[in-house]
Amino acid sequence: MLDLTLAIAHHVLIFALFGVLVVELATVKKGMGQTAITQVAAVDLWYGILAALILAVGLIRAYFSAKGWAYYSHNAFFWAKIGVFLLIGLLSAPPTIFFIKTRRTEAIPADAEISRVRMFLHLEAVLFLLLPGFAAAMARGYGAF
Ligand code: HEM
Repeated sequence: MLDLTLAIAHHVLIFALFGVLVVELATVKKGMGQTAITQVAAVDLWYGILAALILAVGLIRAYFSAKGWAYYSHNAFFWAKIGVFLLIGLLSAPPTIFFIKTRRTEAIPADAEISRVRMFLHLEAVLFLLLPGFAAAMARGYGAF
């Protein structure tokens, strides 16, 4: 039952995080005003909360699942999944800093700044797409060492 509950939570949290990313990509546009910045800053708070929960639930699954920690700690796709996820977390820092900074000013952000933030969001989304593949390979024993 614990395994099933954690698996459901894992998937729901992942969908929610990807949803947040899509909302950010849809909102961060050239000419965006103060209302949009306030909205996206609030949504971005959830990005951090969801990412922390995904990491926690994922690690709990890895430790307490039937396969056990020995299975995952000796799997290259498991470490690739964690590595790429952490990289995505790092890439989310510049957009977060931008949201916090521009929320405090009344000025409309420069187009170049918006393009820079969108580049980070796109990179995050593309890297995120690797993760289901890594997860499926890891769950089936590929990449064991
Ligand atoms: C970085 C923290 C994460 C950890 C520690 C983690 C850990 C795990 C574990 C232990 C499983 C169970 C695999 C099995 O049944 O043997 C799993 C499954 C899965 N994870 Fe994660 N996960 C993390 C993040 C993610 C993210 C961000 C995604 C995004 C797509 C993801 C997608 C999946 C999928 C799709 C499965 C099901 C795989 C299958 O049964 O075919 N995980 N994860």
